[in-house]
Amino acid sequence: MSVNMSTRSRMQARMAGIALVVLVAALPACESNATNQDAAKPAVGATPADVQAGEAKFSANCAACHGIRGVGTKQGPPLVHKIYEPNHHADMAFQRAAENGVRAHHWEFGNMPKIEGVTPADVEQIIRYVRWLQRDAGIY
Ligand code: HEC
Repeated sequence: MSVNMSTRSRMQARMAGIALVVLVAALPACESNATNQDAAKPAVGATPADVQAGEAKFSANCAACHGIRGVGTKQGPPLVHKIYEPNHHADMAFQRAAENGVRAHHWEFGNMPKIEGVTPADVEQIIRYVRWLQRDAGIY
């Protein structure tokens, strides 16, 4: 039995549709984007003396995108957020982010460029400040 042209192209269209459904269903769940609604409340108290140096460096180098006190902006995500807690993004993730930049993967802000002019020691101070903000918001 022979299949005419239009029947065959209908079958091909149907197969392509099935392939697309399978592809979408197979996307890993961890790729789902985080949202700003999960952002924790910002710190309101005075910054402790031992993290003030980190605050100054954060404000100068990171806050343009991550927001004053890490609450996020239209250019970048909040770092005071449960996905950046120490167990999920350890201190090395901050050092790597500053040194190499970050390819967009959790959010839809685009890539983070590498940050010129901050040393690993600067980033260490920034991390201590961000960890204080996180603890203040109940993120451990
Ligand atoms: C030009 C904007 C911009 C600046 C400036 C910036 N970031 Fe980012 N950063 C982003 C964006 C956007 C992301 C989110 C990428 C994603 O996961 O989608 C991000 C993600 C991160 C992450 C998560 C990395 C990971 O492994 O998922 C860390 C940590 C981080 N930034 C730290 C910093 C620090 C520290 C500074 C300052 C030294 C800084 N950022 C400055 C835009 C910026």
